[in-house]
Amino acid sequence: MKKHIIPHSYHLQKADRTKLNGHNAFLIWFTGLSGSGKSTIANLVEKALFEKGIKTYSLDGDNIRGGINKDLSFAPEDRTENIRRIAEVANLMIDAGLVVLAAFVSPYKKDRQNIRTIVKDVNFVEVYINTSIEECERRDVKGLYKKARAGEIKNMTGISAPYEVPQNPDIIIKTEHESIDVSVAKIIDLIIPKLELNNE
Ligand code: ADX
Repeated sequence: MKKHIIPHSYHLQKADRTKLNGHNAFLIWFTGLSGSGKSTIANLVEKALFEKGIKTYSLDGDNIRGGINKDLSFAPEDRTENIRRIAEVANLMIDAGLVVLAAFVSPYKKDRQNIRTIVKDVNFVEVYINTSIEECERRDVKGLYKKARAGEIKNMTGISAPYEVPQNPDIIIKTEHESIDVSVAKIIDLIIPKLELNNE
């Protein structure tokens, strides 16, 4: 099927859109355990960027697992497919000129590496939200850890499924040791130079 797909030559390219927007487009990927604070921090980073006039969009379980990926479970092969599709969606959004924020557990190293390949290394910023399993379980915002301990949820990351710690993330956020405001400010400081058009 692939051989019959002939690429169309578009009049407009990513560079035209980023020039119009006045900033680079890339993906900020938040990885960490369920309840680690990924979405909370990502949403605040997005708000701070938005207030600076940056064109953004957020992807998370709510708008992805309820829609395009609603056919996927938490079995390892489905998580891999979950992350692959999200990376492809993010790739289109980068092409559209947006700064994309994505908050997903993404527990497997090979899947995170695949995101890097899909969107290209230069467009990928990896943020590791390093909150311990003990703290996530203590917070248990969604009550999932309790259910996992009771055997009602299988393949729960950190309990009955692995989380492979990122080896070389661009930034590590330790929510047990720093405030949300400090965490957000650190991420914004990392992002600002990458927004400059001549740094692409
Ligand atoms: S991922 O592993 O495929 O990247 P994703 O980020 O989309 O996971 O979804 C994780 C969210 O789904 C968690 O924050 C939690 O609310 C919910 N969830 C439900 N079941 C599980 C499970 N078995 N393991 C992890 N998260 C789960």
